[in-house]
Amino acid sequence: MQKYINKVTKGDLVELFKNIPSNSVDVTFADPPFNLRKKYNGYKDSLEFEEYLKWCELWIKEMVRVTKPSGSIFIHNIPKWLTYFSSILNKHANFKHWISWDAPTSPMGKSLQPNHYGVLYYVKDIKQTKFYEIRSPHKRCRKCGYLLKDYGGKKNLLHPFGPLISDVWTDIHRIKHNKYRDDHPCQLPIHLLERIILMSSDENDVILDPFMGTGTTAIAAKRLGRNFIGFELDEKYVEIANQKIKTERFKSNIDDIWVSFFNKDIITIRDIDWNALSKFYYLPNQNKDIDKNQIVLIKNSKHFKKFLHHDLQKDDTLELNFCNCA
Ligand SMILES: C[S@@+](CC[C@H](N)C(=O)[O-])C[C@H]1O[C@@H](n2cnc3c(N)ncnc32)[C@H](O)[C@@H]1O
Repeated sequence: MQKYINKVTKGDLVELFKNIPSNSVDVTFADPPFNLRKKYNGYKDSLEFEEYLKWCELWIKEMVRVTKPSGSIFIHNIPKWLTYFSSILNKHANFKHWISWDAPTSPMGKSLQPNHYGVLYYVKDIKQTKFYEIRSPHKRCRKCGYLLKDYGGKKNLLHPFGPLISDVWTDIHRIKHNKYRDDHPCQLPIHLLERIILMSSDENDVILDPFMGTGTTAIAAKRLGRNFIGFELDEKYVEIANQKIKTERFKSNIDDIWVSFFNKDIITIRDIDWNALSKFYYLPNQNKDIDKNQIVLIKNSKHFKKFLHHDLQKDDTLELNFCNCA
């Protein structure tokens, strides 16, 4: 399996899976084609209903087979297909969560406007599962900066960073700007994968993605100090992914703490890391002041500068305006 580590290999996943031993990888993540006639470079996204499901059953079973007993299995898709995938997975692994990722999806004809994708989260052996609770920053009013949620008399109990993350993810957006997109019709945001990886794996673990596209899972794994294995059918996407992997230099850490960031904010941390991480933040004397003040990274620390130089060019400080959001 060593020859597949930390690169994207061109080929059909059904063949490539045969080279991966059982119980050998820590996390498997799949973002398969949704059978919605998307315009991929080579792949034809239009199988018959039964044919699509039969094919999915093949690789879903392979994902479970190669995952370690302590490992996790994630599958991203539209709810319609996930209902079928669940009935397959229920026979071979253990249900942990159906994560609802709040992001607009394509209209499906006469229906409610689809507004979320699902990520099925299964584990191989519930007793051995590796899982870390994760936190995201408090949601705030964009104008005045106050917390959106009213904590009433419990403000002193506020966690300085933010709440534990639930199974509904509303703070991760699809890639909006073309300048951040590769020539691929359904590229996922890197910080979606970073969140999944932070919650289910440790440094140096192996993350396998059999539908690697242009390399989102690989980049997230590399930034977080994990190893990865990628399969992808299309030569053009394989080339883009491997080029990106080669040139990716950013490490998403503060000292030896792995985090996920977007623009100037850290947007996912592991709960167990907060004590060590808190020394890199200005924190208010009283917890209740978190209600009106977002905690900020200490600006003269080398870590803050590293973040600024990555995705963000300027330090756009929060402007406090009058707001009647309450
Ligand atoms: C939804 S996309 C994945 C996008 C990826 N998550 C990203 O962010 O770039 C699905 C990918 O699966 C690839 N694919 C389709 N059939 C495959 C097969 N049999 N083996 C390997 N890859 C396949 C397609 O070429 C496409 O790039």
